[in-house]
Amino acid sequence: MEKPAETIHSINNLLARRWSPRSFASQPVEPEKLQSIFEAARWAASSFNEQPWRFILATQQNPEQFQTALSCLVEANQAWASNAPVLILTLTTDRFSRNDNPNRCALHDLGLATANLSIQALELGLFVHHMAGINISKIKTIYNIPDNVTPQTAIALGYPDLAENLPEDWMRDSEKAPRTRNPFSHFIFENSYDHPSHLFNK
Ligand SMILES: Cc1cc2nc3c(=O)[nH]c(=O)nc-3n(C[C@H](O)[C@H](O)[C@H](O)COP(=O)(O)O)c2cc1C
Repeated sequence: MEKPAETIHSINNLLARRWSPRSFASQPVEPEKLQSIFEAARWAASSFNEQPWRFILATQQNPEQFQTALSCLVEANQAWASNAPVLILTLTTDRFSRNDNPNRCALHDLGLATANLSIQALELGLFVHHMAGINISKIKTIYNIPDNVTPQTAIALGYPDLAENLPEDWMRDSEKAPRTRNPFSHFIFENSYDHPSHLFNK
């Protein structure tokens, strides 16, 4: 299913086509595609080139591994993410390796890496759905996460499927609902935080 962004100004086609489905086909993701997707993540920019992103990968082809990762999501996410062929847990290293100072941009840089990952996935016919709804303490225990590493999100990845195949009404409705965004005046300013940029009148 396609849900292209209704843009006011023109943008890159892949950016416009990206959206977050909950319905995924059982079709496995080819290893070469996974490799390409993580190569894209690898080349994201990061503060001091620290590359603070970390990922734990689980595929349905290894059911035990997949069920473990699935159990780290909140129930509402498990209900649909259980059909995705790939789950990814994301983490950040919280201190710079060069001087052990806190890296206040770690989460920012993980976001750049996962944005790269999302767009590369789309280029290969795959979609991702990011999730904040995870069990952080469970992830720390199950995967032996060191103290200076923080679980951040999870990502479901796979080929999209029909909305009708989702198990609950709210999911089917949400899958078909229009995508919405704030107007530019809400988030682009000049001179002062309460003064929208004159370049954008919507
Ligand atoms: C960091 C992050 C956390 C999210 N957490 C969840 C989540 O736990 N469960 C869920 O169903 N969707 C989650 N989403 C998906 C958002 O709801 C979705 O991206 C947003 O509604 C915009 O829709 P679009 O991605 O289709 O444009 C998350 C997205 C991001 C980027």
